[in-house]
Amino acid sequence: MASKASKLKPVRTAEEIQSIREACQLAATVLHRLTDAVEVGMTTYDLDQMGRREIAALGGESACFNYASGNLRFPAYTCISINEEVVHGIGRLERVIKQGDAVSIDVVVRYNGYIGDNATTVLMGPAAPELVKLVSATRASLDYAITYACAGNRVGDISNAVERFIKKHGYGIVRDFVGHGIGTSMHEPPQIPNFGRRGQGALLKPGMALAIEPMINLGSPGIRMLDDGWTAVTSDGSYSAHCEHTVLVTEDTPEILTIPQI
Ligand code: CO
Repeated sequence: MASKASKLKPVRTAEEIQSIREACQLAATVLHRLTDAVEVGMTTYDLDQMGRREIAALGGESACFNYASGNLRFPAYTCISINEEVVHGIGRLERVIKQGDAVSIDVVVRYNGYIGDNATTVLMGPAAPELVKLVSATRASLDYAITYACAGNRVGDISNAVERFIKKHGYGIVRDFVGHGIGTSMHEPPQIPNFGRRGQGALLKPGMALAIEPMINLGSPGIRMLDDGWTAVTSDGSYSAHCEHTVLVTEDTPEILTIPQI
């Protein structure tokens, strides 16, 4: 989620784009391995440690570990957020994954100085039908919004696409965290809210790399922070889903950089 502004130019050179592409492939491969491996009975600590090992095995480093927010440093290698946890959950030895859980996994890596960022929610099936719908709608809203990440459009076109899609389902769109530009830092301009007006906001140009990430609650949109200073949970205790891709704006169709080439 974007918090600090950067002075870096959002439009990338061909060399930078290649580096971002490689970082995104690493992030996507690790996320795929984690979604493949997650199972009932595992602790969220085990899953996070697997993330640490897989990132290292591919020659990258976690961009989450030691990430600074105020005086705090993020203590884990990935973000693992279960059920009413929205984002930025910390893997714990005491948290055993159970059947019916909605496990959101967020993998952000640095490779060769560039960042790749992606997330998805996995249901430990069989899960409640309302959860299957929530996760499907969240993923579909991301896919839909990506189609608006075209040169000549504006950030508001992406934001409004998520909002329009989700509103039909009556879910709560989280407003306290947003998507973001990405490059040599995890969070760069522009911020990409999951709500907004068509035609508003920054103009999209070829060479911009954007992390688009709807965070959608089954109930109301409000969140609160746990005492650990990181974990955001829904204020009404309802379950939440999170899907994220890093996307490149091109002269033509948007390129989704975080689909693993496996
Ligand atoms: Co992100």
